[in-house]
Amino acid sequence: MTLLSVENLSVEFATNDGMVQAVDGINFSLDKGQSLAIVGESGSGKSQTVFSLMGLLADNGRASGRAVLDGQDILNLPSAKLNKIRAERMAMIFQDPMTSLNPYMRVSDQMAEVLVHHRGMSKRDAIARSIALLDAVRIPEAAKRVHMFPHEFSGGMRQRVMIAMALLCEPDLLIADEPTTALDVTVQEQIMELLASLQKDMNMAMILITHDLGVVAGSCQDMLVLYGGQVMEQGPTTDLFANPSHPYTRGLLQAIPRLDQDMDALHAIPGSPPNMMNMPQGCPFSPRCNYVTDKCHTHRPKIDRDASGRLRACHVAQGDLT
Ligand SMILES: Nc1ncnc2c1ncn2[C@@H]1O[C@H](COP(=O)(O)OP(=O)(O)O)[C@@H](O)[C@H]1O
Ligand code: SF4
Ligand SMILES: [Mg+2]
Repeated sequence: MTLLSVENLSVEFATNDGMVQAVDGINFSLDKGQSLAIVGESGSGKSQTVFSLMGLLADNGRASGRAVLDGQDILNLPSAKLNKIRAERMAMIFQDPMTSLNPYMRVSDQMAEVLVHHRGMSKRDAIARSIALLDAVRIPEAAKRVHMFPHEFSGGMRQRVMIAMALLCEPDLLIADEPTTALDVTVQEQIMELLASLQKDMNMAMILITHDLGVVAGSCQDMLVLYGGQVMEQGPTTDLFANPSHPYTRGLLQAIPRLDQDMDALHAIPGSPPNMMNMPQGCPFSPRCNYVTDKCHTHRPKIDRDASGRLRACHVAQGDLT
């Protein structure tokens, strides 16, 4: 059953130098319990895509298109309505846990407050539930630690507290925006494993945003590759990994460090992402693409769906990318 359907979503910002098109007409849908990764380099429009769903765009930003959550279009809803949906139906976790934790309140108080307000629980039941959730995110001695302040936790543990906060009202949709980027590699792996298992156990849909394809393989069924705010390729993760059909996806995959690979053999994509104020006229990836043709400089490729249902925007046929 479809939980979220996003149609022709665009995000524009008004700036002194003109309009910036940060997200340009993207489409995706998510069933209950399904997971989608949104990947792409820094500045490709990943965060603004989900900020628009959560009503978190900066004041100079405007979203257009539709984002239907269980029958209701949630784009540009008045904040009172959105606050309720945000608390009860969809939750977001961030790279920096202090984005959603209050430094001046004990974890017990901030978690209980949400449950008392949105679930009508007694404070006592709310604290018991908070401890159960800290347990679920594998914080040792949860009954004791629930009374600590956020700064008393280590970085990884604080990330777990934020995840527990996000799960308080058992959201149907969890959005994770680069949740592990600031952590060291071992902790990153633990947090990703935790998220993947919680997502399965609680049957939540999940949107995972990352610039690192290494974390996507084990945790998301589908994958959407963004560049310059536009979809380059979109489809099942295993298919895209096994057989990337877009030059940009290929570049990202080659940039994943592998244990059996010399660091010197890592191929970060040469060049840098486009300036949103001054996008190339044709394909946004054309200045960096090894397969570029004349047409790429002048015509933006349409998004086509292939026989397997995969979406791709490129002028060069997959068979011709050698
Ligand atoms: N408040 C703003 N005003 C103008 N442009 C913005 C604003 N916020 C974001 N942008 C633009 O949107 C682009 C996409 O940003 P974002 O979605 O945050 O990228 P990322 O893929 O790294 O999450 C940025 O390159 C930036 O140009
Ligand atoms: S359209 Fe052209 S420039 Fe863009 S990815 Fe395809 S081959 Fe490269
Ligand atoms: Mg971002």
